Amino acid sequence: MSGTKREMHTEKNVFSGADAIQDFMDPDKLPYVPLVEIPSTLNPLADKGVRVFAKMMNLLPLGNVKAVPAFNMIREQARRGDLEGVEALIENSSGNTVFSLAIAARQFGVEKTFSYVPAEISWNKLLMLLFFGVEPIVNQEPAKPADNDPASGVYKARRDGERPDMLNPGQYENPDNPGAHEKWTGPQIWDQTDGKLSIFAAALGTTGTLIGTSTYLKSHNPDLPVVGVMRAPEHYVPGARTEKLLNLVDFDWRAHVDHVECAESEVSYRLSMALSRRGLMAGPTSGMALAGLLQHLDKADAAGELDALRNADGEVLCVFPCPDGPLPYLDEYPRYVGAEEFPPIHNEELLLNKPRA
Ligand SMILES: Cc1ncc(COP(=O)(O)O)c(C=O)c1O
Repeated sequence: MSGTKREMHTEKNVFSGADAIQDFMDPDKLPYVPLVEIPSTLNPLADKGVRVFAKMMNLLPLGNVKAVPAFNMIREQARRGDLEGVEALIENSSGNTVFSLAIAARQFGVEKTFSYVPAEISWNKLLMLLFFGVEPIVNQEPAKPADNDPASGVYKARRDGERPDMLNPGQYENPDNPGAHEKWTGPQIWDQTDGKLSIFAAALGTTGTLIGTSTYLKSHNPDLPVVGVMRAPEHYVPGARTEKLLNLVDFDWRAHVDHVECAESEVSYRLSMALSRRGLMAGPTSGMALAGLLQHLDKADAAGELDALRNADGEVLCVFPCPDGPLPYLDEYPRYVGAEEFPPIHNEELLLNKPRA
């Protein structure tokens, strides 16, 4: 093998030695996350010069968007000395964030991670946390959560994190969450689109992806329209929040959003499945971001405003992140996309393990 360690990382994609895993988690040492154009069959405005690209965050080492803020939050805490004496992390999360944090923390010597999870967590997600060695603490969340509600998992994690042997990274208020996307996701997208981006759209959870990415993109093009996509009220899309739940997030996400769209469960799961079947492994919030983006473009087209979005090449170039893949949510799809989307099973009567009803 030839070349310096740095060249090896970026060109040959080899990670070796005592720091191999830590290097593998460091976006500075990884190739760019792929940006892939969706097929015209999934882009109703393709014949009007609209091009839509998916930023495949599921291809990060931990298989999800939270790999980047988790690594950034933990590394910055380690650099500040905040991990000294810490024996366990505690976070409020039932999915990607906490298992990504647990893995990142192990790289910096903290072996144990606890997580508050809501009582309605699915068995599949619970199993995923257990698989990654996270200890869940089931919490009965308040029906109508108030700001700083002492019964909420967010509050309890913050309170527990004040113990000297515990640390709460605090994904809902930690600037290193959006900071990670300002440092890496935004610059990659700007470079990958040669600065010709027309619109950026993202699903809103902690809002870290949207705030960080748009902060960087708008530092280069202050007029860039940014679309925030929230979950429609009473609809389920894991990882994304409704407007009511977004009001409990400390980050000032509204200052970074030009347009807000709401997406329902059915369209989110359907687009996720459609993207996945074409080779873009996209989970429900990916479908949700695409749904919100297409909704927004549709309105712009109806209002005769598409031309105002065209770049120097005459195209409307759009990017949305795919935060993770569909596999952790497989059991949820039949509920939202309808049985007719699932092919028949031939000789089903021979099956030894019957599918669940
Ligand atoms: C699957 C998925 N999609 C979207 C998001 C939202 O990303 P952000 O928290 O950066 O708003 C998350 C956050 O946990 C997620 O896990």
